[in-house]
Amino acid sequence: MTQLKKIKVVELRLGMFLHGFDGPWLKHPFWRSTFLLTQAADLLAAQQCGLDECWIDTARSKQEATTDTEKGQALPLAEPPGTVQANVAVSFEQELSRARLICGQARDATAAMFNEARLGKAINPDSCLPLIEEITQSVSNNSYALISLVRLKTNDDYTYMHSVAVCALMVALAKNLGMDENGCRDAGLAGLLHDLGKASLPLDVLNKPGKLSAAEYDMVKRHPQYGHDLLVQSKLSNAAVLDVCLHHHEKIDGSGYPEGLKGDDISLLSRMGAVCDVYDAITSNRAYKPGWDPADSIAQMLSWHGHFDKKVLNAFIKTVGIYPSGSLVKLRSGALAVVVEQNASALTKPIVKIFLSSNSGARIPIEKIDLSIAGEREGIVGREPRDKYDAALIDALWAG
Ligand SMILES: [Fe+2]
Ligand SMILES: [Fe+2]
Repeated sequence: MTQLKKIKVVELRLGMFLHGFDGPWLKHPFWRSTFLLTQAADLLAAQQCGLDECWIDTARSKQEATTDTEKGQALPLAEPPGTVQANVAVSFEQELSRARLICGQARDATAAMFNEARLGKAINPDSCLPLIEEITQSVSNNSYALISLVRLKTNDDYTYMHSVAVCALMVALAKNLGMDENGCRDAGLAGLLHDLGKASLPLDVLNKPGKLSAAEYDMVKRHPQYGHDLLVQSKLSNAAVLDVCLHHHEKIDGSGYPEGLKGDDISLLSRMGAVCDVYDAITSNRAYKPGWDPADSIAQMLSWHGHFDKKVLNAFIKTVGIYPSGSLVKLRSGALAVVVEQNASALTKPIVKIFLSSNSGARIPIEKIDLSIAGEREGIVGREPRDKYDAALIDALWAG
């Protein structure tokens, strides 16, 4: 039996059975009007569609219709998209070419630093500061260019590029959280150095393709302490950076390592590090697995309760987008498209490039569409599994 209840869209939760919106059908973001909400990205799209109220079927919902507001908890993802602190002083394409140069320099400098550490030599953390300045400048020019580009890695440079990626993501996230110049610099340095302890691991364990044995995993779990020790030996006195190195694998519910810290006992910078670190790790291609779709990764991270600080994760989503560049999406017209650029004020309506018909499977002429000005004519109806398509083609569409 159907039991309809009208609630505010911001009160929607995963597990609720959505039974339509109270507003014009064309304005709602889904091609189906009734379905069980199981995907965090769908929940987010609903919350940001611009409609105020919706109907849920409580008889078919797996989640009771009490709201988080009633439970006295903070509503996740309810901030209006207009609060995004995006920097787009320079166009995405223009900044992409500069970001490419920075990536190359940063990878080489990080590789050199890891090699010094591997040889047991002290490193000079201050030598990283000009690089952090360049990264910060690029993020200030266009916050999406570098943080998208750093996702592209090869097997050989994974460890170094991962450090550069976490550095760039930390700077962009720090800016989004309103941190000052010093805070952004600490965040960047912490990102660049967070995994330095991996230089103390045997290379065959670090680069092992496939599952680690229990003993190998125990060894890998010691890298935060190894990194902290290396930085102390190198006379790094920045407590915030040391803390991120030691605590970027802690989880909000206390199930992380090495110390099992909980909640606010984990510093803000380390909570930021945890989000940036995991996002980059799961979206990157590895020898033994292709990277996850960026939008899918955001949805998965939202569903891992107890892992991340929700406020930090929400700010992170505003930083990279709900559909980050490189995400594969299906449009209302049936076209498949790759997200190429964000619209900071409308994260569910990025700029995309269509390239394939999902109905016929045939190539269609590549066309750039700004979904924020496409009106009702076109919009995202869902994510598309990336593994069915040529990853190199998808990346070439947005990164050139
Ligand atoms: Fe790590
Ligand atoms: Fe890491």
